[in-house]
Amino acid sequence: MKNYPIRDLRPGMKIAEPVYTKSGQMLMDVGTVLTSALIDRLSYYGIDSASAEVPVSIRETPAAEQKAPVSMPNRSRASNPSYSQKVKSQPEFMAYQIEYTKEVNSIRSLLDGIIQNPAQPPDIGQILNECSRLTSLTKTTVDLFDKLHNMRLDDDSVYSHCLNVALIARQMGKWLYFSAEDMDVLTLCGLFHDIGKVQIPDEILNKPGKYTDEEFALIRQHPVTSYNLLKYLPLDERIKNAALMHHERCDGSGYPQKLKADQIDDFAEIIAIADVYDAMTAARSYRSPLCPFQAIDMFEKDGLQLYSPKYILTFLNRIANTYQNNRVLLNNGQSANIVMINSKHLTRPMIQLDDGSVVDMLNLPEWEIIKII
Ligand SMILES: [Fe+2]
Repeated sequence: MKNYPIRDLRPGMKIAEPVYTKSGQMLMDVGTVLTSALIDRLSYYGIDSASAEVPVSIRETPAAEQKAPVSMPNRSRASNPSYSQKVKSQPEFMAYQIEYTKEVNSIRSLLDGIIQNPAQPPDIGQILNECSRLTSLTKTTVDLFDKLHNMRLDDDSVYSHCLNVALIARQMGKWLYFSAEDMDVLTLCGLFHDIGKVQIPDEILNKPGKYTDEEFALIRQHPVTSYNLLKYLPLDERIKNAALMHHERCDGSGYPQKLKADQIDDFAEIIAIADVYDAMTAARSYRSPLCPFQAIDMFEKDGLQLYSPKYILTFLNRIANTYQNNRVLLNNGQSANIVMINSKHLTRPMIQLDDGSVVDMLNLPEWEIIKII
C-alpha cells in the first residue's frame, strides 16, 4: 500500500484506505477497483492523493501502455469559461449580484449573531423576505441556476453556500408542490444547515492538501456543532434536523450517526441533494463548474441509493428538463439543440445537430454534453 498523487493512479488499482470528500463524505471505500471514471471523480472532488494497492497484473504492464485517466476538471475548465462570461455580462446579472451580496451579508449577521448570542431568537421574517425578493429576480429556472452557478466564484464562503442551498431547496419545494409554509421552512433549513462550519477557520475549509486527523475530525463534527447552536432556539424541528442530518445518506454511509433512510428527516434529505448539487455546479478557484448534465451524471455515478428516490428522481428530472430546447456543446466539438429529454436516461437526450439531423444520444455512449451554450 502506498499513497499516490491522483495523476499517478491508474485503472485497476485498488483503494487501500477510505477516501473522503472535503466535507467528510465517504467517496470510495477500501477495495474499490479504480476505473478512469472513478479517477475522474476523485479529481473532480479535489482529492489530491489516495492510498492504493497495485495488482500484479498492472505492475507488469509498462507505464506507457497504461491508459492515462481523462481529467474531467481540465476538460471543464477548457470548455466552460465562455458560458460563465456570457451569463456574467448580462446587465441583470449585476443587479442580481448586488442583491445576492446584500443577502449574504444578512446571513452573515444572522449566523454570527446566533454564535455570539445563542439565547437571542433570530429574526427569520426579515431573512425570508430578502430571500423571496432575491427569488423574484430570477424569471426562469434556467435563469436561477445560471446565476447561482456563477455567483460563488468571487465568494466561496460558508454564508454564500448556505444561501445557494436555501435557494436550490426552495426551488425543490416548488417542484414538489410544497405549501408556502413548508417552502419557508425548507429555505431556513438551507440558510442554517452549515452554521457549525462558520467557526472552522478558512485555512482548514479551503486547505488544498490532505487534512490531518484533527482537521478531518473537526470537519466531520460540523453537523453536531450546527445542531447544538440551533437546538434551544424557537425554530421548527425540521430546521434543526436538517443541520444535524444533511450529511447522512439513505444507505447508512453518511455521518455523524450513520442513519438509514427511514431515520433521516425528509427536509434533511432535500438539503443533502441541494448541498451536493451546489458543490458540483458552483464555480471554484481551482476548477470550473460542472454543466448540469455532468452533475446529473456525477449523481448517478455516486449512486442514487444515497438519496431518497422521491426527491432525487424529481430533482434530476426537473434539472434535465430545465434545459430542454437549450443549445449545448458536445465532447466531440459539435453543438446541438436538445429536442427531447429521455426520462430514463437523463444525460442521453434526443438532440438535433447543426446539419439538421436528429440523433438519439442513447445510441452514442461516447458522446457527452459538456456545456450549455
Ligand atoms: Fe455540511
